[in-house]
Amino acid sequence: MTLSVKHLLGIKELQKEDIELIFQTADSFKDVLNRPIKKVPALRDTTVANIFFENSTRTRISFELAEKRLSADVVNFSASGSSVSKGETLIDTVHNILAMKVDMVVMRHSASGAPWFLSNHTDASIINAGDGINEHPTQALLDAYSIRERLEDVKGKRVVLVGDIMHSRVALSNIFCLNKLGAEVMVAGPPTLIPKHIQELGVKVEYNVKKALQWCEVANVLRIQLERQHKPLFSTLREYALYYGVNRQMLDSLEKEIVIMHPGPINRGVELNSDVADSKQSIILDQVENGVAIRMAVIYLLSGKREVE
Ligand code: CP
Repeated sequence: MTLSVKHLLGIKELQKEDIELIFQTADSFKDVLNRPIKKVPALRDTTVANIFFENSTRTRISFELAEKRLSADVVNFSASGSSVSKGETLIDTVHNILAMKVDMVVMRHSASGAPWFLSNHTDASIINAGDGINEHPTQALLDAYSIRERLEDVKGKRVVLVGDIMHSRVALSNIFCLNKLGAEVMVAGPPTLIPKHIQELGVKVEYNVKKALQWCEVANVLRIQLERQHKPLFSTLREYALYYGVNRQMLDSLEKEIVIMHPGPINRGVELNSDVADSKQSIILDQVENGVAIRMAVIYLLSGKREVE
């Protein structure tokens, strides 16, 4: 079995069968990660470049660990401190890295569409680690995988994405992924942070967060992305937390216990309170753990290797 794509640019391009194959492969790698020796020699002949033009903690470390657990050679590039500051173009930067015999590129960039642009100019496989406000495919895969792990299946589950939908690449990738896997999806938050016509992507819209939480089995709470908001879209962070933040009192008032997720980094006390983020309802650290197995699966499958050793 192989993926239907050469690159992982977005979830939009994936088939449901691709996602299921990534999950099955991640299951094998999760077993590897729980062994005393958490490493396989599968990619010992492969070199991967992680090129990050935007800040990251989780995604960057997770990709690097995934590559090292697969025995790949790894090079890391950050835009800060590089020749990008001297005016080098994205294409020139990548061609120079690839000239050093790199097989695969993991890229994060602030420009939506940058990985697609790159994929038209190189033979190496490109993995999108987040492009602008467009997609963050491995985050959506690890999110859906974590729902599958906690609730046994994604199909038929009611999932709400809460918060800054407008600026969230995690939201768009989650919508594509959850829809392909047969979940029911809702977005919730202030009207100014929910794009007009988003229903056309097959999601419900709710402006009352408590009603949304009452409807769902899983709430994936998203970060308020102030760095992408060029005009104020709500009055203050305090008011946002009061009306749209997820807190213990709100969860305790529901008639059921729901699963809480967050892709990180969390603005504690704004979109999510610590008494929820650190509670047993939260699977936030499971998401992070699963990220390594999911990224191992994606890299392994795109490399065209056949067996998990
Ligand atoms: N979830 C996520 O993308 O986190 P980082 O920005 O820390 O990589």
